[in-house]
Amino acid sequence: MKSQLEQMRRTAAEKIAGASGIAELEALRIAYLGKKGELTAILKQMGSLSAEERPIMGQLANEVRAGIEALIAQQFEKFKEKEKAERLVSETIDVTLPGKSVALGHRHPLSIVLNEVIDIFLGMGFKVASGPEVELDYYNFEALNIPEGHPARDTQDTFYITDNVLLRTQTSPVQIRYMEQNKPPIRIIAPGRVYRSDAVDATHSPLFHQIEGLVVDKGVTMGDLKAGLEAIAKGLFGNETRIRLRPHHFPFTEPSCEVDVSCFRCGGKGCPMCKGEGWIEILGAGMVHPKVLQNGGIDPDEYSGYAFGVGLERITMFRFQIDDMRLLYENDVRFLSQF
Ligand code: PHE
Repeated sequence: MKSQLEQMRRTAAEKIAGASGIAELEALRIAYLGKKGELTAILKQMGSLSAEERPIMGQLANEVRAGIEALIAQQFEKFKEKEKAERLVSETIDVTLPGKSVALGHRHPLSIVLNEVIDIFLGMGFKVASGPEVELDYYNFEALNIPEGHPARDTQDTFYITDNVLLRTQTSPVQIRYMEQNKPPIRIIAPGRVYRSDAVDATHSPLFHQIEGLVVDKGVTMGDLKAGLEAIAKGLFGNETRIRLRPHHFPFTEPSCEVDVSCFRCGGKGCPMCKGEGWIEILGAGMVHPKVLQNGGIDPDEYSGYAFGVGLERITMFRFQIDDMRLLYENDVRFLSQF
C-alpha cells in the first residue's frame, strides 16, 4: 500500500506538471482525490492493515493528498497568470487611434446677434418683454394710431386670419400691451418674429425679426432718444460708430426719424458695403405719440417717451457681411458652421 501511494504521488506529480490547462487540472484532481478517485480506492485496503500500520498509512495518505493538492494549486495559479497575460495582450486598446469626432452644434447667426443686443440693453437697465405673434388688429394697428384705410393695413402686406386677427407685422404692439400692464418708468426691449406678405428675395422674407424698444418716464426728450440710440449703436458696431437722424414718418411716433450708423467698414468715407454713402440705415424711431401713450393708459401730460424698432436680420447681415437674407433661413450647414 505504501508503494501504491508513492507510485500515485509520482505519476500525479508528472501529470499535473504536464497538464495543458485548468480543465485538465480539474480532471486530474477528480481522478486522484475525488470520491471515486484513486486515493479513495487505495484507502479501501486500510481494513486489511494491522492496528500499528493503520495510523502510519493514514498519515502517509494525508501527506500524499496534501502534496497533490498543493501541486494542483500551484499549477492553477500559473495557468491563471498566463491567461491574464494573454488577455492583456489581446484586449489592448490603441489609445493613439483617432476617435470619431462629434460635430458640436452652435448658435444661429440671428441668435448670436440677438443675444448681443439683449446683453447691451440689460446693461442699460432694460427688461425683455414679449407679446403674441397672432395679434389683434387693435394692438397691431388701431392702438398704434394707424387708422383704418392706412396703407399698412393693406392685405398686400398683412396676413389676416380673420377681419380683426392677424399675424403681427411689427413688434410695436408689445408697446401697448406692456403699457397696459405696467406703470412708468418703462424701459423694455421686445424681440420677436413678425410677418409680412412679401415674396422671398435677397432682402425680403415673409417672416423676419424685429427688436422693439420703449422708454417712458417723466421728462424724456429727443435728446434721450439720441443718447440711447447712440449707446446702442456703439455697443453693436463699435465705439467709433456715429449715428445720424433723418426725419421720417411713423403714425405712432411724433416726431419720427430713421437712424443711420456710420459705416463700420469704411468709417464713413464710402465703400461697397454702404454703397458709397458712408452711412447705413438700421432702425426707425421717434417720440411716442401722445395718443399711443393714452391708448396704453399713460397720461401724456405727465409722461413722455421714445420708441424704436430694429430689424434683426438687417443688423445681422451687416455684422457678418452676409449679402443674401435667404441664407439665414435655409439651414445649410456649410453656411451656418461659419459663425
Ligand atoms: N414698427 C416700425 C416698423 O416696423 C419701426 C418703429 C418702431 C418705428 C418704433 C418707430 C418706433 O417699421
